Amino acid sequence: MSDRTPVAIAIDGPAASGKSSTAQWVAERLGYRHVDSGSLYRALTAAMVRGGTSPESWTAEDVVAQGARITLEPEKHSFVALIDGAPADDEIRGTGVTANVSRVAVMPEVRSWVNEQVRRAAEAHDVVVDGRDMGTAVFPNAPLKVFLVADPWERARRRLTQRLGRRPTDDEVAEETDVLVQRDAKDATQTVQAKDAVLLDTTFLTQAEQVERIVALAHAVSHRPTVT
Ligand code: C5P
Repeated sequence: MSDRTPVAIAIDGPAASGKSSTAQWVAERLGYRHVDSGSLYRALTAAMVRGGTSPESWTAEDVVAQGARITLEPEKHSFVALIDGAPADDEIRGTGVTANVSRVAVMPEVRSWVNEQVRRAAEAHDVVVDGRDMGTAVFPNAPLKVFLVADPWERARRRLTQRLGRRPTDDEVAEETDVLVQRDAKDATQTVQAKDAVLLDTTFLTQAEQVERIVALAHAVSHRPTVT
């Protein structure tokens, strides 16, 4: 990379809005690296779950202390969160972690720790970061901010199709929609659309279409004339 300042593109939105997979794909298309800020909240939560203590008793101090075990490993087009030096993707996406990650994510000290890791990853690389507040709390000057939304039923349907590898029944989708809506409510304070973010409703878009739109927006902002 040249000695210009690295670029950070921020993609935010609620649970299961397709942020991470879209961000990964956009990063590959642009030759950037993807940073999934949610994976850091999840890794901290997984480290706490491993400790076996009751989630109700977790303090911010305990959680931030787990940060010493977590690293962001650079790969060709992403940074991967490792726990004790090892990948833990299935574990961090499991139901035990998902059910408790929001309680960890409301702790301000935990948010500072995660934001610091994300900023550091973006110091030397062009990145596409995804989360809830990347365009507001972490990269307020990002040249491109996208806020992804989708109808909760559609988000639940997509998530289950991916998880089960088959078409889910309406009852299954209804149950998953409830779980997602509850997590949205717990994450509401942290999920902030930046005033200058492009709102993209993906309910009727395929993933390839979402990626095309964001890549086109990224090209458009990189060719925008500088206002002096
Ligand atoms: O994006 P994902 O669903 O994997 O994020 C897991 C959890 O991490 C969210 O439910 C939320 O509680 C938290 N999170 C957050 N801020 C971010 C990213 C994730 O609070 N920037």
